[in-house]
Amino acid sequence: MSKQLDLFGKKSRTKADYIAKSYKGIYGMHKYWSKKPYNIIREFILKYTNEKEIVLDPFCGSGISVAESLFTNRKVIGVDINPSAIFITKNLIKKIPVSLFEQEFKKLELSIKKKINSLYIVKRDNKEYVGTHFIWENERLKEVWYKNSNNKKIIDAPTYEDIELFSSFSYEDIPYYYPKSRFFHNTRINAHRDKRIFELFTPRNLKALSFLMNKIEKIRNEEIKELMRFCFTASTGQASKMVFVVKRRGKYSGNSVNAEKKEVGSWIIGYWLPKEYFEINVWNCFENRYKRILKAKKQQKKINYKINLTNSLDELLVKDKNMILFNKPAQNILKKIPNDSIDYVITDPPHGNRQPYLELSMMWNEWLRETVNYQEEIVISESKDRNKDIENYNKLLNDVFKEIYRILKKDHYFSLMFNSLDNGTWINLITNLNKLKFELKKIETMSYSAHSVVQDTRNYGLKTDFILTFKKNPKIIVEEIKLISFKENKEDIIKIIEGYVFKKLIKRDFEPYQIINLVISKLLKKKIFIKISDMPKILKIIYNHES
Ligand SMILES: C[S@@+](CC[C@H](N)C(=O)[O-])C[C@H]1O[C@@H](n2cnc3c(N)ncnc32)[C@H](O)[C@@H]1O
Repeated sequence: MSKQLDLFGKKSRTKADYIAKSYKGIYGMHKYWSKKPYNIIREFILKYTNEKEIVLDPFCGSGISVAESLFTNRKVIGVDINPSAIFITKNLIKKIPVSLFEQEFKKLELSIKKKINSLYIVKRDNKEYVGTHFIWENERLKEVWYKNSNNKKIIDAPTYEDIELFSSFSYEDIPYYYPKSRFFHNTRINAHRDKRIFELFTPRNLKALSFLMNKIEKIRNEEIKELMRFCFTASTGQASKMVFVVKRRGKYSGNSVNAEKKEVGSWIIGYWLPKEYFEINVWNCFENRYKRILKAKKQQKKINYKINLTNSLDELLVKDKNMILFNKPAQNILKKIPNDSIDYVITDPPHGNRQPYLELSMMWNEWLRETVNYQEEIVISESKDRNKDIENYNKLLNDVFKEIYRILKKDHYFSLMFNSLDNGTWINLITNLNKLKFELKKIETMSYSAHSVVQDTRNYGLKTDFILTFKKNPKIIVEEIKLISFKENKEDIIKIIEGYVFKKLIKRDFEPYQIINLVISKLLKKKIFIKISDMPKILKIIYNHES
C-alpha cells in the first residue's frame, strides 16, 4: 500500500480477515454513522479493478469509497439519498487552496467571534471573561468554566449574573434562520414529535449558531463557503445539549485529590438529551472543528489525485471525467446507467433498522436548508409517521440489486458489506442476490473502525462486518438456498458445525463472534443458511459442550 495514501489511521484489535484502521485525518473531519474503514475499501478496489475503471457505490454515505476510488486513480459514481451524505462526500474529496481557507476563517473570526463570545460573558471580581463550558443539570446551571487572564481553566459555581445572562435569551428573539421542523416520532432514537430540531440547542447556543451560519452564507467564494458550512455542520453536535458529562474519579485541578472530574462527552447517536449536559461556547466548537479540518486538508494536499467532476454519465462512461455524485434514490438513478457498463460495485447498504439515516441527519439537513426525500429511503424505521417496514425495505433494496446486476459488466464483481442479526433482512438479501445470478465467491470479515459509532458489544453479537463478494455470472444455474431452523435441525446443525469449529476451538481460544463468522460463511458456501437469530443458542451449546 503506497505510503502517501496511508495517512489516516491506526489498526483496531479485533480478529478478522481484514483489519480496520480508525478514521483520522480527512476521514475524521465529519461525523457519519457506520463509516467503513478506508484501508479495507482501498484493498478491495485495488483487488477488483484496474486504473481508470469505473467503481459504483449506490449508498456512498460519507464518501469513503468515492475518495478511495479517486486516490487509486479509478473513476467513480457515488449515490446517496441523503443530502448531508453527498455534502460530506464533496467536502471530503475536495482539494482546497488552504491559504484561502485560512484567510476566510480569519475574516469570519474578525466579524463574528466577539459577538458570539459576548453571549458567554462571565463576570468575576469586576473583570469579564469568556465562558467556555456550562454544565446544566435538570435545566439548572451547575458549573461555569472559563479561562482566566493567564489562560488557565477555572471551574466555578454559577453566580446570579451568569443565570441572568442565560435567561435573557429566548428562542423567539433569534433574528436569523434556524431549523424549526418537528422530529419524526421515533423513540428508538429518542425523537419526539412534540419536539423541534432547534430544541436540541439552548437558546443561547442557537442564537450563536444562527449568527455564525448567517455570516458563513455571505462568503463569496462558493468552494470555501461550502467548506465553512461543512465545519459548521461538523460542529453542531458539540454545540448541542446532547453532549453528556463524563464523570471520572481522580485528581482534580482544585484542592481535593479525590474529587469527581467532569469531562466533555459527545453526541453519539440519536437525539438523546441527557439530564446533565454541557453547553459549550459555539465559537470554540467551530474553531476546534475548523482546526481539525484545516490540518486534514493540509495532509490531503500530499495525496496525488485529480478530480474531474461531471454531471453527465456519458462524460464519465466514455470520456475522461472521473467522478459523478447523485443525491438521488439509488433505485431510480441507477436506471439511467446503461447495461454492462460498470466495472465494480462496492457498497455498504442501509442495514435494516440499525440507523434511520435521514431521521438522524435531520439536524444537518435542516441547517443546510436541504429538501429531503424521505419517501424513497431504504430503511426500516420504527417511526409510525413514516411507513417504513421490512417489506418496503426489502422491495426497494431488491430494486437496487436488480439494477446493479444489470449495469455491472459480465464476470465482474460486487462487494457488499453487511452486518445484521435480523433474519428477515439477511434471508431477503441472500436469496435475492442468489436468484439474480450473483454467484457468491467470497465471504470475508472485517473489523470495525476503532471509532465506529455503533458497535455490537453483546456477548454473542457480531463484532465484525461481513464482506460478501459476488460475481455477475449469467451462466450460473441457480441453486436454491436452503433455509434451516435450529429448532428443527438441531442435531444436523451441531454436526455440521462440529466439523468446522471444534478442532479449532480446542486449539485456540475463539471468541463467539468468530465462530458466528465461520459458521455462516461455511454454511453459505454449501447454500445453507441458518436463521441468524439462532446463532446465540448455537454458541451456547458449543461453549457448554467445550467446558
Ligand atoms: C450504511 S450507510 C453507508 C455508510 C458508508 N459506508 C460510510 O462509510 O459512510 C447507508 C447509506 O444509504 C443511504 N440510503 C438510504 N436509502 C437510500 C436510497 N434509496 N438511495 C440511495 N441511498 C440511500 C443512507 O443515506 C446511508 O448514507
